[in-house]
Amino acid sequence: MKGSIEICNNVIYAGASDFRLKRFENLFPVPDGVSYNSYLIADEKTAVIDGVDAAVAGEFLYNVSSALNSRALDYIIVQHMEPDHSASLFSLVKEYPNARLVMSARAKAIFENFFGAVFSDRIIIVKDGEELSLGKSTLKFIFAPMVHWPEVMVTYDETDKLLFSADAFGSFGAVAGDIFDDNADFYAYSEEMRRYYSNIVGKYGAQVNLLLDKAARLDIRAICPLHGRIIRKNLSAVLEKYKKWANYEPESEGVFIAYSSMYGNTKRAAFALADEIAARGAEVEISDVSSKDISYLVSSAFKFRRIVLLSVTYNGGIYPKTEAFINDMKALGLKDRIFGFIENGSWAPMSAKLMRASLSELKGCAFSDEVITLRSAFKREDESRLGEFAERLLQTDLVE
Ligand code: FEO
Repeated sequence: MKGSIEICNNVIYAGASDFRLKRFENLFPVPDGVSYNSYLIADEKTAVIDGVDAAVAGEFLYNVSSALNSRALDYIIVQHMEPDHSASLFSLVKEYPNARLVMSARAKAIFENFFGAVFSDRIIIVKDGEELSLGKSTLKFIFAPMVHWPEVMVTYDETDKLLFSADAFGSFGAVAGDIFDDNADFYAYSEEMRRYYSNIVGKYGAQVNLLLDKAARLDIRAICPLHGRIIRKNLSAVLEKYKKWANYEPESEGVFIAYSSMYGNTKRAAFALADEIAARGAEVEISDVSSKDISYLVSSAFKFRRIVLLSVTYNGGIYPKTEAFINDMKALGLKDRIFGFIENGSWAPMSAKLMRASLSELKGCAFSDEVITLRSAFKREDESRLGEFAERLLQTDLVE
């Protein structure tokens, strides 16, 4: 990407993308890379909003220098101290010795955990709602704790009506040249946005709701997140999706089928069930828990109201990959879902009972009372029960 890209007036994109990273947080696959966004406002005073990951720090420093065009840097605004944004700050602070760092008190504590107290005299602590004038632009700092760490704040540029939203409204996927959402395929983009949201921020729905309430009181022209594209064309659609995700509301009343299958028998049942569900007009998606990364399974669990788990019985328990998926749903606090179970066991099938017991910890969830037990192979008599299984699942309602 060329040194810097103008977003509007004197707001310039100074971030960079990593196209080679395999796993974000060393955990989530990023087949299309990831971007670390940073923004520079060149008003009467100049300010950089957040840094980038160490992997692209050199590119970032070049972009900032290019955007400043020989001017001094006055402020470095630190919204979030996670190293995917802060790892480059030490170099930036050293490069611009007159720049003051602007952050929350909690961010200062984390900053000093990472870098020591060497820049304490350059740090300006701001409170929730405090403002900073850069000349024509006034920045308002809005605290957003646990979206996604406790020190997080977002920044509203009252003049340009931009919301610099930290991790909120971010997405996986590198950006190159076209940093806006204008030309992106919105369906594909929102799929990766949900995978990012559900896995990274999914646990903090209550806190995201608080941020959404604050954002609803602002006149926003575009959202500038720390990952992914700048959102301006699909603003209302993205806000609508965020409201659903924050409340754990599904986007579809249809069915997500997640199966484990060691030798293909349970897989046959899964695909036959998908046919029965589709034949009844409901949306259906199917994944093999062994071949699909768990981050995609979690994203689908956020998308669908109904989830069918098919698990073989393994060491007297749930198949490990299925169990890991269940544990992730619990860790992220998913709620208000309807589950169905199909188990397989050659001599002592146990997994349906165990899956239900484990998922009973989720709030507001219901369970279809139709459970199918396969004994080794998937047989005609099993297949004949799938229509009734699908009917019962689609008719099951949430617990009041
Ligand atoms: Fe993109 Fe929570 O860091």
